[in-house]
Amino acid sequence: MSSVMSGRRQAARRAAPSLSAEAFAADVVAGLTAKPKRLPPKYFYDAAGSALFDQITRLPEYYPTRCELALLTDNAPAMAAPFPPGCAVIEFGSGSSRKARILLGAAATVEAYVPIDISGEFLQGDAAQLRRDLPLLAVHPIVADFTSAADLPAAIAAMPRVGFFPGSTIGNFEPYEAAGFLRHVGRMLGAGSLFVVGVDLVKASDVLYRAYNDAEGITAKFNLNLLARINRELGADFDLAAFEHHACYNAERSRIEMHLASTRRQKARFCGVAVEFRAGETIHTENSYKYSIDSFQALARGSGWSPLKAWSDGLFSIHALRRAEDR
Ligand code: TRP
Repeated sequence: MSSVMSGRRQAARRAAPSLSAEAFAADVVAGLTAKPKRLPPKYFYDAAGSALFDQITRLPEYYPTRCELALLTDNAPAMAAPFPPGCAVIEFGSGSSRKARILLGAAATVEAYVPIDISGEFLQGDAAQLRRDLPLLAVHPIVADFTSAADLPAAIAAMPRVGFFPGSTIGNFEPYEAAGFLRHVGRMLGAGSLFVVGVDLVKASDVLYRAYNDAEGITAKFNLNLLARINRELGADFDLAAFEHHACYNAERSRIEMHLASTRRQKARFCGVAVEFRAGETIHTENSYKYSIDSFQALARGSGWSPLKAWSDGLFSIHALRRAEDR
């Protein structure tokens, strides 16, 4: 998962040690020798994958980005109303900061913005632009995998904090991981902090199906790019023509599942390992869990946050949470 949101992370493997070639190779070997086979979604976002993700966010069938941008535009002043004076906004998986700009533009009390993203190159260029556009705002980017980042910049040590996590990236975690992440953010942001989270809603399965099976096949290309990247960077010999994108809605678990399915019996080699595929066997690449307003608020309550308010257009939701007091 990755943040995702208005797409765009370029590989920053040199800058982010957690994404070194060795770690990538080890994760790929572990995932493809596991049963069932899987691959970690954070590797979707190399330069090619980031560009494809950006296209996904503009597809007619992919409603989440459009809905979230409209909810932000219409409600940013209300969302920013409880932000404390002199606060810092910390964004997890900031990408292009396109959504944060809307929020920051309506939040006069924000003194600092800390975008955390795995893509270093993107982050620095974007921070420079943001400093030009909002000269009163201190921008402190952090290049890191936002799930493991723990240390905030010293410059914001004394400031009250507001977290921002749009894009329904929370849905790309397993629910127990989402709970763990909410707790981690609570500890990181400290007493009295706020958290603004974008969450995609449970809805008719045909609408969900179309959002992840677009007519142009961009989502398929995005998914298949993972194998293309393994070929490029790990010297693997995956036959991309013999794998296809499968996305289906698992209503029982309220999640879209994304897989790469082998269309025939075949073998692939990389890093000194050979992996066999049965015809129809899949590699599970990502889940996108969908919540109701109530089910997300229950998850938040169980993870140390009190729901303040939720905005929704019936398809997507944005939640404002306040950290429950420590006991
Ligand atoms: N978090 C968003 C979602 O689950 C965006 C996203 C992440 C996505 N990975 C994706 C969209 C893969 C399409 C395909 O919808």
